[in-house]
Amino acid sequence: MHEPLSGYVRKQFPALKRQVNGHPIAYLDGPGGYQVPETVIQAVTDYLINMNANVGDQFASAQDTSAMIQNARRIFADFFNCRWEEVVFGANMTTLNFALAQALARELTAGDTVLITEIDHEANRGPWLQLQDRGIRVEDVALNVNTCTLDMHDFQQKLSSKPKVVAVNYASNGVGTISDMPRIIQMSHDAGAYTVVDAVHYAAHGPIDVQKLDTDFLLCSAYKFFGPHIGVLYARKEILSRLRPLNLRTQSQYPPFMLETGTLHHEGIAGAAAAVEFIADIGRKFGCDPQASDAEWPGLRRHQILAGLRVFDQYEQALTADLIAALTRDVPQVTLYGPPAGHPRTSTVSFTYAGYTADQVAKYLGRRGLFVWGGHFYAIRLVERLGLLDRGGLIRVGLAPYNTQTELDRLIQALKAEDALQRFAATLR
Ligand SMILES: Cc1ncc(COP(=O)(O)O)c(C=O)c1O
Repeated sequence: MHEPLSGYVRKQFPALKRQVNGHPIAYLDGPGGYQVPETVIQAVTDYLINMNANVGDQFASAQDTSAMIQNARRIFADFFNCRWEEVVFGANMTTLNFALAQALARELTAGDTVLITEIDHEANRGPWLQLQDRGIRVEDVALNVNTCTLDMHDFQQKLSSKPKVVAVNYASNGVGTISDMPRIIQMSHDAGAYTVVDAVHYAAHGPIDVQKLDTDFLLCSAYKFFGPHIGVLYARKEILSRLRPLNLRTQSQYPPFMLETGTLHHEGIAGAAAAVEFIADIGRKFGCDPQASDAEWPGLRRHQILAGLRVFDQYEQALTADLIAALTRDVPQVTLYGPPAGHPRTSTVSFTYAGYTADQVAKYLGRRGLFVWGGHFYAIRLVERLGLLDRGGLIRVGLAPYNTQTELDRLIQALKAEDALQRFAATLR
């Protein structure tokens, strides 16, 4: 029999041993970035000790580096359910999206429309808003502020302007809402648009299947799911191969290399591949039929990745339900912001606390080893539309598979102790 999931998972993360002010740290800021398991640290270290070279040279370490990157592309192809030629590595999601927007802009002409949304992180808004300098019209799909969901009626109406690109968020890093991506992509394609999906927040919480989704582009960041700080883009090969991104004469003009300007973050790629392998390993240990896990068959790794994500999701959803129930029941100062009960969501729970700013509450919790983020988390338009930007934004608790009920109990106790918060806030003035 396996140890319970959480006990096993926690042992893999050296960062969980750290303390602050005598308190064990509860990393409750998953949407800001996950902690990394030992296997990821080892993969990065192993790369730096045993390979550490540029690609294209004739000696062994350079060839090993090429092989490592190629293997990582195959691992991410299983993660996305795509071909390896469709996996593009980059510095982070934002940088990749700027490069993509520049490349797609060359397909557009002045007067064309791009649709963005109010629920999106700025990284999937700014790169498109910037195209206004070239005469591209950028329209914003409204947020339904009552439900913290995309206004699908407004989306339908905005599609009548026949946008060339729809840039949309899979799951909100601000409030945890998961949007109906298959429907949004289908509607966008029916209107004749390319689709660019920001899956940065979603990727840690649910399976990605770019074939089923039928999206043209999808972006994520490995540091949001157990990996180092790199971004990864899925780009449909047939479209990518006809784009003319900004790049050098010396660079390969073929997918996926054409979008990868300069030297890649090799050790980050090694670690990112290990992060996906970590998810697959959880699937193998806790989520798969053991016989299927032991047999070698094509598609096994994808099967295990999906199983791992399912295991994590079940664990997180149970904790999330408990957290929401406890906040509602025990902390009357809290006002929750997020999708209604029953709507698909991640384990990200955001709220305000009457009488205190998000920054004050986050600092107070941080002193007690409860690491949460307060503010707008770059989902600035969302927070603005919720009417909270001038009031300091939201307090965000984002649960990862290494978080526990004990940590949530500590959080609730700290939030219930308003007198302690008041004393602490007085020291900030
Ligand atoms: C939903 C979402 N999109 C995009 C980004 C930007 O990702 P990166 O930091 O890799 O540029 C973030 C980062 O917080 C995010 O949460």
